[in-house]
Amino acid sequence: MKGSITWRLACMYAVVAFVTFAVMGAALYMVLQTELVRREDDQLTTYSQGLQYSIERSGTLERWARVTAKMDTLTPADGSVRFWVLSPDPRFGYGRGARDVAAQIRADGSDRVSDSGIGYRTLARTIGPLEERPPVRLVVGVNKRFFERTLATFAAAYSLLALVATLVAAGMGFWIGRVGLRPVRQLSRDAQALQPNRSAQRLAAGALPVELRDLAGAFNGALERLENAYQQLEGFNADVAHELRTPLANLIGATQVVLSRPRNAVQFQEVLQSNLEELERLRSIVNDMLFLARADQGEVATALAECIVAGEVRKTLDFFEFLLDEKNIVVTVEGELDVTATMERALFRRALSNLVQNGITHSRPGARLVVSIRTDERFVWVAISNAGEAIAQAHLQRLFDRFYRVDVARNDGQSEHGFGLGLAIVKAIARMHGGRVTARSDNGVTTIGFSLLRTATQT
Ligand SMILES: Nc1ncnc2c1ncn2[C@@H]1O[C@H](COP(=O)(O)OP(=O)(O)OP(=O)(O)O)[C@@H](O)[C@H]1O
Ligand SMILES: [Mg+2]
Repeated sequence: MKGSITWRLACMYAVVAFVTFAVMGAALYMVLQTELVRREDDQLTTYSQGLQYSIERSGTLERWARVTAKMDTLTPADGSVRFWVLSPDPRFGYGRGARDVAAQIRADGSDRVSDSGIGYRTLARTIGPLEERPPVRLVVGVNKRFFERTLATFAAAYSLLALVATLVAAGMGFWIGRVGLRPVRQLSRDAQALQPNRSAQRLAAGALPVELRDLAGAFNGALERLENAYQQLEGFNADVAHELRTPLANLIGATQVVLSRPRNAVQFQEVLQSNLEELERLRSIVNDMLFLARADQGEVATALAECIVAGEVRKTLDFFEFLLDEKNIVVTVEGELDVTATMERALFRRALSNLVQNGITHSRPGARLVVSIRTDERFVWVAISNAGEAIAQAHLQRLFDRFYRVDVARNDGQSEHGFGLGLAIVKAIARMHGGRVTARSDNGVTTIGFSLLRTATQT
């Protein structure tokens, strides 16, 4: 529940509603308070002015009796308004507890007095003497209880209202969350319904709100990549089985033939010799596959050293001297001959050997092989060009795939041809050095190369 968006939305709505109501409540409370004070003041002034007028004109006891009768009439039964007249002559005084009130007023000149535990807001005026009457002080008081009760009622009612509103808002937030997140639940149901055996399945992104369309698109993209990887893996397994079948069949066939009748030692030796060659080819394909598997698992070049690229190229070519002579092929190294790169030597030579091997295989005798070393801002590129049959664009893109050979029919089953792993290994080695691969075929010249990341010092 803690991680649920619906609950989070509900809580957020509740918080927003609560804060809004609290601020509004405080403001309303203040307005009401001000308004009530103003009304009290009005009330006090009205009563006070009316009575002052009567008292000013009453100088005798007889007229005073009328004033007190008026005050009696004006005093509401609920005690919300009270009158006191404070006078040195008790005959011209008025109001229960007048002495107390007098003491309070005189003590701190406050406009608040209390009588029998009830608080009053008061307005006091002094009225000059007339005839028998000494100067008196008229005090009008309004009962604070009404004021306080109104405020308290307001506060209580408002708080209850705010509480209910907050709960309603939380409920709405929850509901909005549920309705709003319906597409998400649908999406997750769809995702759950995906079957592992039906890899072409995708989420229906079109029906989703825009916000989720990207997510579904990304998810579909991931599914697609997964499907491709899966297919590649399946294809790879089939390829491996296929590639191993031919040499194994050869081995079995040769062994069966030699066992079919009695042989002498020389004949056995011959067969064992040819079997050994076949077995070595098998070992090399298994080693290549292991190498590719390790590269796939993210292995990178480690025994790095700063080397002059042209130097490494020449040392690699030395190993092919015999083969090159045999096919009467001349090799030239050109380009930036003094450029250096950080590399794992053995890997670099392995990649280059694969390219040279291909170059020799696909060149006519007497042709020229060119190794070029070039740089751009990020990479050092080593490429080998040889004249030979043009390779169609569709093939060029796939040359670096495992077991991919352009002319499968020609090569298939003939053990003198490669397995189609050479360029895949070149690509893996380039990747282990942070580099790329490239393949071009124009005007009958095939150029295949790879790159290594340039070292920072070279820039
Ligand atoms: N220089 C080239 N000229 C023309 N085609 C080439 C050249 N290099 C590679 N190819 C084509 O690319 C395919 C893949 O090459 P790759 O080196 O991966 O495999 P291979 O040489 O067939 O086998 P392996 O290298 O595993 O012994 C080759 O079968 C060939 O058809
Ligand atoms: Mg090869």
